[in-house]
Amino acid sequence: MIPTYEDDLFAPDALAAPFAHYQAIRELGLVVRLRDPDVYAIPRYEGVRDALLASDILASGDGIGFNDVINTNRGPNLIASDGDQHQRMKRAVLGPLRASQVQRYRERLKAMITERIAGLVNQGPFDAMARIARYLPTAAISELVGLPEEGRASMLDWANATFNGMGPMREGIDGDFALMREARAYMDGLDRTRVREGSWAANLFDAAASGRITDAEARGALSAYVMPSLDTTIYAKGHLLRNLALAPEEWRRLRRDPALIPGAVLEGVRHSSVIRWFARVARADYAVGEHVVPQGARVMVMYAAANRDERQYPDPDRFDVTRDARAHLAWGNGPHMCAGMHLARLEMEVMLEALVENCDTLECGEPEPVMNRTLFGFRDMRFELRAVARERRPVAGAAGVATA
Ligand code: HEM
Repeated sequence: MIPTYEDDLFAPDALAAPFAHYQAIRELGLVVRLRDPDVYAIPRYEGVRDALLASDILASGDGIGFNDVINTNRGPNLIASDGDQHQRMKRAVLGPLRASQVQRYRERLKAMITERIAGLVNQGPFDAMARIARYLPTAAISELVGLPEEGRASMLDWANATFNGMGPMREGIDGDFALMREARAYMDGLDRTRVREGSWAANLFDAAASGRITDAEARGALSAYVMPSLDTTIYAKGHLLRNLALAPEEWRRLRRDPALIPGAVLEGVRHSSVIRWFARVARADYAVGEHVVPQGARVMVMYAAANRDERQYPDPDRFDVTRDARAHLAWGNGPHMCAGMHLARLEMEVMLEALVENCDTLECGEPEPVMNRTLFGFRDMRFELRAVARERRPVAGAAGVATA
């Protein structure tokens, strides 16, 4: 029989401190039943990796959330689509997000974050979520997407609601649905003339005009630039900052050898995975070890639990900047693997470069967790950056990224 995990993963204390729950579920087996939501949870590394590759059986098109409203009530949506529609929309979205393309932004993003961090050194405590983690997505990425000003002001609220509203039906979820409707109405009201010339949004409307995607798909694809790109990278940066502040030896290693930075970024997203879980629906019986998930069942794919699986990562709770974390599952795997991972990596790499170049010590207070039913992150985090006096490097090209 498939074991059942009795605790409520969506209770506030479990959302705030999920890792002991993840370990307990991994211990129970490759597949575990939950009561509310009524799903088959897959918590171990091997199970998650395989489930994400089995997209012909474990489909996204019936919704990747845990309530019927979100799973049934939507237009064309990249992350919750399968087959041809998914491929068409993904091709259109990927354009500016390919590894080779995002490198064009490196210099400008580095200059912007360096200026920001240099201005915080030896200035006493500040909120690192507001002053560092949110800075590049709100100042630069929103500009690249190219939405009109009033949309940019609401993006963070819409994105947070989109993720929170994927949880099971619980108190307060109506507020998330209302914000999601507002976001949808806003996207539906956009057209080529209202987005910035040369922006990612303009490219999507051009793809629709040339028949590569439909008009409705272009609006769905536009949401794919906005909703999954903000809180994810913001929270991942918060985790990186905190992990480095709490592990001074790892921070020293990074300062001694900045070539470790790209690996440290991947270790950060493995260790403190921002996306807790998404759902799939079994289009046919799906075998997991000795068990079978029956056709029609909803499956919970537990990315964050998989990344702490002791079967895959020795001493998984340790943040180790020299660990080879390249095969982590924090951006997923298979056809739905994160479209924005190269941009996310770039934002985090330049942040760490700016830190090692400008700071000697990092100090972190106790952060306030966000109560989001899909994302694990901090709302605010008291932080301090210190450095012994050194010559300030000139920061070139920090004036914006609009034409980068
Ligand atoms: C640390 C930052 C990020 C994390 C941890 C993350 C995580 C993920 C994960 C786990 C998935 C897989 C969904 C699935 O299996 O169904 C995903 C998909 C996606 N992500 Fe990200 N993401 C991040 C940043 C971004 C950024 C910056 C963007 C856009 C600029 C983005 C856009 C997308 C899109 C469009 C998808 C859907 C891809 C598809 O369905 O084919 N993400 N992301």
